[in-house]
Amino acid sequence: MSRPPATSTDTSTSPVILPGVDATRLPQHVAVIMDGNGRWAESRGLPRVMGHRAGVEALKSTLRLCSDLGISALTAYAFSTENWSRPGEEVNFLMTLFERVLQSELHALEEERVRIRFLGDLDGLPDKLQQLIADASERTVANDGIHFNVCTNYGGRLELVRAAQRLAQRAASGDLDPETIDENSIAAELFTAGEQDPDLLIRTSGEHRISNFLLWQLAYAEIHVTDVYWPDFNSEALREALLDYQSRNRRFGGLDPITP
Ligand code: IPE
Ligand code: IPE
Ligand code: MG
Repeated sequence: MSRPPATSTDTSTSPVILPGVDATRLPQHVAVIMDGNGRWAESRGLPRVMGHRAGVEALKSTLRLCSDLGISALTAYAFSTENWSRPGEEVNFLMTLFERVLQSELHALEEERVRIRFLGDLDGLPDKLQQLIADASERTVANDGIHFNVCTNYGGRLELVRAAQRLAQRAASGDLDPETIDENSIAAELFTAGEQDPDLLIRTSGEHRISNFLLWQLAYAEIHVTDVYWPDFNSEALREALLDYQSRNRRFGGLDPITP
């Protein structure tokens, strides 16, 4: 699936936003594990939750940059199915933060033609947040700008279990011949249905793991790990990630290098 850039501007001739980055060889879909908020705050003698608040600003500027660059989709990991195991105060702070940010940012997202979706088990979220998510998704569904996917109560294993359940139900009811199940049938049952797989995964704060994120979809993503804590992720850090991506040879199991 390919979409035109978020604006009608031809990115190959538009002013350079990030020096050195080739605007004609950008990833179409960037996924990001926004990690290190707590350590960012602790390193400043602040409570951990202040790092989450600062992380929102980094996400807003990253979304804007990706949109300006003409990147088609940004998928951000905001809250995992495992994050419920954190202290209740931190979890509550995060849920309230998501609600506040959705309320304060929805108008700007609409203006910038962003299509926002929330991926994950949304039924497990507080009622008020579920309502705000439904409203934001509905109000931006027809927007032709960047696809902004926020993974909230998301787990890659949960996603695959749900897909298996749905396919099994359809097979049991006679709607689906199990022999016809292929990769497309599974992809169509994932939260990300309709979105192309990420080309680039960025993880901040130096951890070299994927922590149950997009287990199916990251099969051939290029991975960039930076030591920068998420709240410090800025245009220079994004520039480094994109330059790293553009330095790779993608082979997809073959022998011929495919330069991004
Ligand atoms: C990522 O930052 C945000 C969430 C998981 C919600 P962390 O809160 O994991 O920060 P660190 O990794 O503890 O520093
Ligand atoms: C991954 O970060 C989840 C999100 C960024 C939302 P974690 O901080 O939860 O991951 P681990 O615990 O270091 O693997
Ligand atoms: Mg972490």
